[in-house]
Amino acid sequence: MIIQRFDHEDALASALASRLIDAIVRNPRLVLGLPTGRTPLPVYRALRDLTARALVDWSAVRTFNLDEFAGLGGDDPGSYRAFMQEALFDHIPIDPVNIAMLDGGAPDLAEECRRYEKAIADAGGIDIQILGIGANGHIGFNEPADELHAHTHVATLQRATLDANAMLFGGDPGRVPKCALSMGMATILGARQIVMIALGEEKSDCVAGMVTDLITTRLPASFLQVHPHVTVMLDHAAASKLV
Ligand code: GLP
Repeated sequence: MIIQRFDHEDALASALASRLIDAIVRNPRLVLGLPTGRTPLPVYRALRDLTARALVDWSAVRTFNLDEFAGLGGDDPGSYRAFMQEALFDHIPIDPVNIAMLDGGAPDLAEECRRYEKAIADAGGIDIQILGIGANGHIGFNEPADELHAHTHVATLQRATLDANAMLFGGDPGRVPKCALSMGMATILGARQIVMIALGEEKSDCVAGMVTDLITTRLPASFLQVHPHVTVMLDHAAASKLV
């Protein structure tokens, strides 16, 4: 793993946005894997700014988001689709047909998960997967457990994750859907490059475990150690427990 430390989240965001724009310039048909959460927001702001300044051509770029709440259609304001539209997609010249997200409102969620895996394979796989990390070490919605799913699946969310997502539901964890659809561990590890971003002291324990401890399903992010091309981008607080 390549570890990069930054003095401020804006410096991290601008470094990652520049790397992504460079990758798009080199490969206009880039396939990006995207996360939600508070952590990527500065990155999405930087991507919007750079796109406006450098007239980046997004017309052939394809995106796959990591996860979505079960039971919520894309028009629900609490959905990750709504989050992504507001944070990024509404502000860049991406072709809407090239945006792929899991549909939490699909009538058959198992079938929706199979559709998504096939769509990723049909796109030739993900070139660069951006990841955040839950304070409990989850990636996507792959929660700490005795066993993990390889492929896109319906996940049951843990209490800490409901609390962390409450901001999308008026601050009320009780309104956060209890289940979600998520890429699995093999889906994520199948990306050619992975960039993990983490900010703040709250993430310092799981970041240290992810980088230095043994691989365990109790810390799903630790599986990134087996991937040959991972960059971990941290602010000093998130990096503070790394030895
Ligand atoms: C959610 C998402 C994860 C994300 C995590 C961390 O649970 N499913 O993909 O990494 O939140 O969110 P934040 O960046 O707000 O800490």
